Formats: sequence, C-alpha cells, structure tokens
Amino acid sequence: MNAHAVIIKEVTEMKRIALLTSGGDAPGMNAAIRAVVRAGIDAGMQVYGVRRGYEGLIEDDIMEMGRNDVGGILYRGGTILKSARSERFLHGEWVDVAVENLRRRGIDSVVVIGGDGSFHGGLELAKRGISVAGIPGTIDNDLGYTEYTIGFDTALNTVVELINKIRDTSTSHERTTIMEVMGRHCGDIALYSGLACGADIILVPEVEMDTEELVRRVREHQAMGKGHIIIVKAEGVDMPILETQQLLEAVTGQETRSVVPGYIQRGGSPSVQDRLIADLTCGMAIDLLAHPEKRPSDSFAVGVSGSTPFAVDLKDAVEQKRVFRRDIYDLATVLA
Ligand code: F6P
Repeated sequence: MNAHAVIIKEVTEMKRIALLTSGGDAPGMNAAIRAVVRAGIDAGMQVYGVRRGYEGLIEDDIMEMGRNDVGGILYRGGTILKSARSERFLHGEWVDVAVENLRRRGIDSVVVIGGDGSFHGGLELAKRGISVAGIPGTIDNDLGYTEYTIGFDTALNTVVELINKIRDTSTSHERTTIMEVMGRHCGDIALYSGLACGADIILVPEVEMDTEELVRRVREHQAMGKGHIIIVKAEGVDMPILETQQLLEAVTGQETRSVVPGYIQRGGSPSVQDRLIADLTCGMAIDLLAHPEKRPSDSFAVGVSGSTPFAVDLKDAVEQKRVFRRDIYDLATVLA
C-alpha cells in the first residue's frame, strides 16, 4: 500500500463516536462535553455532538465537533448540546430509528451524559449493538454505582449559599424557615447541604418522619432556646411545603416561612469538584472506547470514588441501588 492509500485507509477507519446530554441539565455538563470532544480527537476519533439528547438521535440532529467548538464552555453551566427528556425514546420503534441514524453515519459508540433515565436509554442502544459509555451527570446524586455525580457539588454550593442568606433573615426575625431542595427521590442535596449549614432539621425520603414528629422536633429546638429554626426538606418527602409551613406556625406559635429555590439549583458555573469529575470520568470513557480490551464490558458507566475514576458494566450500574448515608444523617442531627 502506498502512503496515500494508507492515509485514506486511516481516515476511513477512524472511529466515530457520538455524544449527548440528557435529562435535567447539571453544572459541569459543558466541562464533560469539552473533555469528550478533546480527548476523543486526541485519541484519533471523529466526535459527533447530538442536540437535545435522545430526541436529537431520533431527529438525526447530529454534527461533527472540533476542538474549537468546545472552547470557552468549561466554566459555563447548562449544556451547549441542549437537553431533553425524550418520551419517544421509551418506545422501541424510535430507538430503532435512532440506531439507524447512527449506523448510517458509521457511529458505533455513544457517550451519554445524564442520570438514571438517560442510562436506561443507553441500555436500549446497547441492546441494539451500540457501545455506550455512561457519564454520571445530574444534580441529584442518585446513581448507586458512583460516589458523586457531575453537578451535585455545584448544586450543593448554591443551596448552602441560599441557606446562609435565609439564616440571616430568620435570625433577625426569629422565624422558622423551611427550604425545599431538589433531588427527586434522593435526599442527598438536603442531607449534605443541611449538614454543611447546620440545619436544625433535615427531612429526606430515606428517613421517615411524620408531621407529629416534625412538630415535636421543632418544639424541642424551641425549648433549647433557639430563636430561629432552619429546616431543609428534600422535594421527595411527601409533606406539601405550604401546608407544613401553616401547620408549624399554628402549632408552635412561631412565625414560619417557606422557600423553594427550584431550578436555580441547576444553574451556575460548575465547582472545581464538578469540573474535575467531568474531566476524569470523560477521560477514562474515551480511553476505554479507544481500547476495548480494557473495558469491563462493551457498554459501561464511569463513576468516581474520591478522585479516582472507575468503570462498571452499564447494566450493573443501572441496577445498583443507592445506599443512603444514615451515618451522615445521624451526625447532622447530633450537630444541629
Ligand atoms: O434530575 C434533576 C431534577 O432537577 C430533579 O431534582 C427534579 O426533580 C427534576 O429534575 C425536575 O425535572 P424537570 O426539569 O423535568 O422539571
């Protein structure tokens, strides 16, 4: 083969991978996109970005990305690829359309940055012979196989800043304040922010507490001479916030307010930790896509333990139940 033919062969045999962000956006997703594109190109791959998650796969909204396309995005929240929760992707016929779009472009692997629902979508691709690399991207920290998810730390810092501010005014007015934070069915945002802020009471779905017990705990804090009380409640706790506020005010006699920061928790420039997790997990994902012999299986998820990335089979990752840190919850209760 002459030199020209070798170059043509190399170009035509370049591995093609696609990349998408799916589900609720999380700070650090842009850092992950940047890492996948740059590490992928460095490994000799052609990298394609898919817009609006699985919707873009179905719509064939796919474009090749270069190093410069991901310049200046590392520090930005959100996702330049956009995100969506695709109802259509729950139906096999649409997954087939997505796979057909990938195959037509010669793409055999997809990096999925998202949470639980996004990983389930990845499993559908894997069943049809596409290699999937799952990257944990959600503020909820609700994936069982990894210690942390990209976006969790930034969301925590946002919540901590807000609770600090709420504490100022709660102290001045000697009020009880309930703040409801996100997390879907997972109490981690409430737990870790509550601990970090010295919340008096933390309500999480993993630890049962009815309104009677809540009232008892508030009274206990009042009896200890606390002028103001901060309660952090996870959204997954089945206790409507306004009703709880009214009930507490009525039975404790202390002015009570409620705050729901909502989507503010999903925005903002990613923290150092979220950027590092994005870089480390995506760097490993590309390495494993480039070297199939190193993978635990054809489709896998990358997680972190401390600051060390690791890979597990995608199905095992999806099936692994999250273990709630009861020890941390108990410590927060002691320290309150
Ligand atoms: O998964 C991230 C998250 O922000 C959850 O904490 C929250 O319950 C949910 O997404 C909100 O979803 P949506 O953006 O579809 O309203």
